[in-house]
Amino acid sequence: MSVINSFFLRRVRLQHLAAVTRLAASSPPPLHTVVRPSLSPHVFIFTQPLSCLTRKAGPGGLSAVKVVLTPSYRRKSSQDQMDPRIIYMVYVSLGVGALLLGSILFTHLKDLYKKLVHGIDSYYDPPFGRRRKLIKYEGVVLPAMLEQDLPLIRTFDVRPDDVWVVSWPRSGTTWVQHLVYLIHSNLDISREEEKNLEQRFHFLENVYPGLPSIQANPGPRLIKTHLPFHLLPEQLMTVKPKIIYVVRNPKDILISYYHFLKMLEPLKFVGTFEEFCDRFTKDKVYYSPWGPHVRKAVELNQEHDNLLIVQYEDLHKDLAGQVRRIADFLGRELTESQVECVTHRSQFGSMSNNPSVNYSWWDNLGIRDQTQTKFLRKGKVGDWKNFLSPFFSRRVEKMVRDNLSDVEYDFTFQHPPPEAAAATQ
Ligand code: A3P
Repeated sequence: MSVINSFFLRRVRLQHLAAVTRLAASSPPPLHTVVRPSLSPHVFIFTQPLSCLTRKAGPGGLSAVKVVLTPSYRRKSSQDQMDPRIIYMVYVSLGVGALLLGSILFTHLKDLYKKLVHGIDSYYDPPFGRRRKLIKYEGVVLPAMLEQDLPLIRTFDVRPDDVWVVSWPRSGTTWVQHLVYLIHSNLDISREEEKNLEQRFHFLENVYPGLPSIQANPGPRLIKTHLPFHLLPEQLMTVKPKIIYVVRNPKDILISYYHFLKMLEPLKFVGTFEEFCDRFTKDKVYYSPWGPHVRKAVELNQEHDNLLIVQYEDLHKDLAGQVRRIADFLGRELTESQVECVTHRSQFGSMSNNPSVNYSWWDNLGIRDQTQTKFLRKGKVGDWKNFLSPFFSRRVEKMVRDNLSDVEYDFTFQHPPPEAAAATQ
């Protein structure tokens, strides 16, 4: 700046000097102009015979005339008189502002590119955290951190000896995973003591252990996922591993999911219960929509024999019967005492006290807000009656009707028992 100003001021001084000299040349007698710069850059002291201005002074009489320049550049050069620190601060603030604007613009352009090219909608919903980005990918609401892995999951290599447990969150996945592990490993309880459920039964879309390690696992692999079938590996229905789909009454899922997301630090829901109910019934929570997720599983179950549906409520009703059913599907023969052992180890109380399956390891990793509920919360059928208002209860029923009324499957929750129906009146 000061380089520009000094150059600019020099030019102006020279121009004024030339003007004064011209004036001197045209007025007889010839003048001897002396230009003396003053302390201010805008003021020059011209020393010359006063007669050239008044024609009254005697010959040779010298008088000082102070000429104040008011050129058009004056505004700009006034910065010269400012404290340079203020000027630098102004420029630094302008630079920072420009950087901020640039980064905001860049983020918006990136989001626009993702939407147009990859069909990914990115957005924020304050009850999910002001800084937590959500995405809508192929119609499914997901945390933005899954974005990178979603295309890779479609091309994930499936093996025929894999066992997959697929479900919408809070449907009883952990319960079925535990049953599958015990049955599949021929009740290998010693390994259960060495490794927790997350280490034995990998969560496909989770950061831990991550896709490459699941891919590299020598197997036989046990894999859990909450993704809907249209986002799962294309090979799933051609390679035909065993797939168990878990389903539960969405009213109980809603309650369980609300408490779970209040507890889960990395994806914590910070809104109210009503805000959660509203979003759940409008298909705006992670993994929404629920209806098409279940519907697709039923359709695949009708077409493929490698998919078994297990209902949470049926596990409650007849756990031993479901253990036999799952063992049969997995091609494992269990003795009656083994069935009894699996059933015993899978009771809610046993699982809650088992550090290998109760997710207590999350406490040490800071994943769980310890002021909130535990991962294995109540384990009951119909807990929704203690929480859900008739308004939201009807909204969930509409979700079920809209998605499953024409589906040929005997869901335990589709025809609510009389007391449940009465509670929603
Ligand atoms: P609640 O929150 O209603 O207690 P997921 O594993 O899909 O996240 O589902 C968790 C839900 O299944 C929780 O429901 C949990 O308590 C319940 N659950 C897990 N193991 C269970 C068991 N052995 N018996 C009954 N419910 C169980």
